[in-house]
Amino acid sequence: MRLAGKRAFITGAGSGIGRATAEKFGVEGASVICADLRAAPAEATAAAIRAAGGQAAVVIGDLTIEADCTAMFRQGAENFGGIDVIFNNAGICSGDDTGPVETPLAVWNETIAANLTSVFLCCKAGIPYLEAAGGGVIINNASIVALVGSAFPQIAYTAAKGGVLSMTREIAVMYARKKIRAVAICPGPTATPLVQAFLADEEAWLLRRKYLPMGRLAQPAEIANVVAFLASDEASFITGAAYPVDGGLTSAYVIDDSIV
Ligand SMILES: NC(=O)c1ccc[n+]([C@@H]2O[C@H](COP(=O)([O-])OP(=O)(O)OC[C@H]3O[C@@H](n4cnc5c(N)ncnc54)[C@H](O)[C@@H]3O)[C@@H](O)[C@H]2O)c1
Repeated sequence: MRLAGKRAFITGAGSGIGRATAEKFGVEGASVICADLRAAPAEATAAAIRAAGGQAAVVIGDLTIEADCTAMFRQGAENFGGIDVIFNNAGICSGDDTGPVETPLAVWNETIAANLTSVFLCCKAGIPYLEAAGGGVIINNASIVALVGSAFPQIAYTAAKGGVLSMTREIAVMYARKKIRAVAICPGPTATPLVQAFLADEEAWLLRRKYLPMGRLAQPAEIANVVAFLASDEASFITGAAYPVDGGLTSAYVIDDSIV
């Protein structure tokens, strides 16, 4: 089991990529702290981990609020005697987040808070636990939009994810000699409730599909597998890097429409 003995704090563990990663970590031997805004989905993830023979705890709160973050990390650490891995994964996207001219300031603010400020607050609250453990790993869930622009704009989401990537690099450099690694993943479109909202109808899906070299969405487990590797000691010399997990999307220049 590649994560035996690790205590992992996973945000957004109640759904999608966070849930798949929490379950994967459980199977790989980690003790998993399932952090989410919503209690019932986080409890369901923890129950699935326990049913598979793993160990899990649940902490509930809003990661955009500093006091909630502090309390969630304290409770999580109390459960398993510390924290070795943080997967900053929780995030949102809004249908009202479009271009720079159109996006309302309120939508910008809530998107930046949920996708960027939350990562900052979790690093602020969580890094002292990694230091106390003698080292650890932070994995931040960015997105392909941190690497490339899109003419289907989500300007606040894109700016937030770019910020996540920059913050990851800086933390990696600052903490490298304290044995804390920081890595970002940049997933392409993944089959979770987050994207199902805007790919719900066939027309919207076909419009996007032609830009996907593999012609399909990722499954959350395909992202979770990469996170598990990056959290493991097998990735001991990896820090500051950004990992596209995108089915080739950021490698594409033009996709031949005839192969769609
Ligand atoms: N699905 C994709 O196509 C895709 C692609 C690239 C990156 N991502 C990123 O992956 C991450 C997870 O996305 P997903 O698709 O699994 O989404 P999801 O909506 O399925 O799950 C997100 C989870 O985060 C929780 N959450 C949201 N705001 C929170 C807050 N303030 N405090 C605590 N918990 C909160 C939600 O309750 C939910 O359980 C996000 O950061 C997203 O931007 C997703």
